[in-house]
Amino acid sequence: MSDYVEIASEGQIAHVCSKSEDGRQIHFELKAGGGGHATSSNEERLVPEVGDTLLLWPDRGHMEIAPASLWPAKTVAPAQDSIAVVRLKLHDLTVIDQGGTWKKITTTQTPEYAVGNTVLISRDDQVIRVLSDQPLRLVEVGTSNEVDVGRFKVKSADIADDFDDFGGMDHVVARAKKLIELPLTRSAQLKKIGARPIKGILFSGPPGTGKTMLARIIARHAKATFYTVSGPEILTKWYGESEAVLRAIFDDAAAQEQAIIFFDEIDSVAPQRSDRAHEVSQKLVAQLLALMDGFEPSKRIVVVAATNRPDAVDSALRRPGRFDWEVEFKLPDATARRLVLENSGRKISKVASLPYDTVVSGTDGWSPVELTAIWSEAALLAADDERDLILPSDFVEGFSRVREQRQQKAPQHV
Ligand SMILES: Nc1ncnc2c1ncn2[C@@H]1O[C@H](COP(=O)(O)OP(=O)(O)OP(=O)(O)O)[C@@H](O)[C@H]1O
Ligand SMILES: [Mg+2]
Repeated sequence: MSDYVEIASEGQIAHVCSKSEDGRQIHFELKAGGGGHATSSNEERLVPEVGDTLLLWPDRGHMEIAPASLWPAKTVAPAQDSIAVVRLKLHDLTVIDQGGTWKKITTTQTPEYAVGNTVLISRDDQVIRVLSDQPLRLVEVGTSNEVDVGRFKVKSADIADDFDDFGGMDHVVARAKKLIELPLTRSAQLKKIGARPIKGILFSGPPGTGKTMLARIIARHAKATFYTVSGPEILTKWYGESEAVLRAIFDDAAAQEQAIIFFDEIDSVAPQRSDRAHEVSQKLVAQLLALMDGFEPSKRIVVVAATNRPDAVDSALRRPGRFDWEVEFKLPDATARRLVLENSGRKISKVASLPYDTVVSGTDGWSPVELTAIWSEAALLAADDERDLILPSDFVEGFSRVREQRQQKAPQHV
C-alpha cells in the first residue's frame, strides 16, 4: 500500500517523472496541474516506471497504470536531438532535411557547417556539430528482424585494392593482420595461454593514412564475412533503429564461421561524454558495449573500429574486452613515402624513371592520401597533352599542384 500527498480526493491522471533508486518512491506530474509523490509503505518497489501514465485515487491509496494515450503525447515521448542534412544556408536562415521533412532554422556561425553536410540538431533547432561533410542516407529499418544486414556486408570481389597497393608501414600491416587473424583462427590457443582476448581493435591515426584502405584489404583476404558500418551513417533519426541495426549485424556475425565487423569513423558514434552529442549516441554506445561484452571470444568475431580522433572515443569503449588493442597509423617517413608513391602508382602507365627522390624529400608531413593525389594530377596533365604515359615533367608538375592545394587548405598561421 502507498500513501499519497498533495492530491485532491477524486481520481487523477498522472505521469511518472522520476523514480528513486530503491524504487520505493515515485514523483509524478498531474494532468490537472501540480504534482506529488508516492512512497511504498513496505519494502517493495513500486510498479510504475518513469514515463508511465497513472490513474490515482489518493484517498483510497490506490493507483493503476493507465493507457499512455491519456497523457498528452509530447510528454510521453520527449523530443530528442536529431540528424539532418543541410539543404540551404543563407546568412540568417538554414533549411534542413530531417529524413524527408524539410524545416527552416536560424543560421548560426558556430559550429561551421555547409550545404550537403550531415549535422546533429538539438531539440531547440540548433546545429550542435557536423557529423559528416557528406549528405548521409538514413538507414531506414524497422525491427531487428527486418534489418537488411546484407547492405553492410562487403564482398571481396568488390575490393579493388590489395597489399601490393598499400605502401610502407610494414609493421602496421603486420600488426593489424595478426590482431585480426589471431582471434579468428587461434581463439582456443589464446584462451589456453590465458591471454587477454582480442575482441576489439582500434585503428587510430591522422586522416588519409590508410585505416579504411587496410581494413578493406584485410577483409579481401580474410575468409571471414566482413561487415562495414560507417559511424555517421548509422546515426539515424530513429535511434532505436540504429540499435536494431547493430544487434542484427552482431546476430548475423555470430551465425558465421568467422566475422569481422568494421566501424569506420567510430568517434562520431561514440564521442566522449562531455560532447553534447552524447544524448544521441549514448544508447548506441551502450548497445555496442553490450554486444561486445555479450559475445564469447570463441565466437570468432572481431570488431575493428577506425578513428582519426582517438581522444574523442568514449573511454568506456577502451576498457578491457572492448577496443583495448590499438594499431596506430602514422604519417609516413621518407622511406614509407617512397613506397606509398611506388605502390599506389603500380597500375599507372609511366616512364621507367621518375624523380621520386625530389618528391619524397619535398613531402615531409604529407599523408598517403595526399601523396597518391600526385598521380591523379600527373595523369590529368598527361591526358591533357594527349599522352597515355606519365613523363617526369607531369610527375613534378603534379607534385607542385598538390603542394599548392595543400597549402591553401592548411590553416593560416597568424
Ligand atoms: N599506405 C598507403 N599506400 C597507398 N595508398 C594509400 C595508403 N594510405 C592511404 N592511401 C590512399 O589514400 C586513400 C585514403 O585512405 P583511407 O581512406 O584508408 O584513409 P583513412 O586513414 O581511413 O582516413 P580517414 O581518417 O580520413 O578516414 C586511399 O584510398 C588510398 O588511395
Ligand atoms: Mg577512413
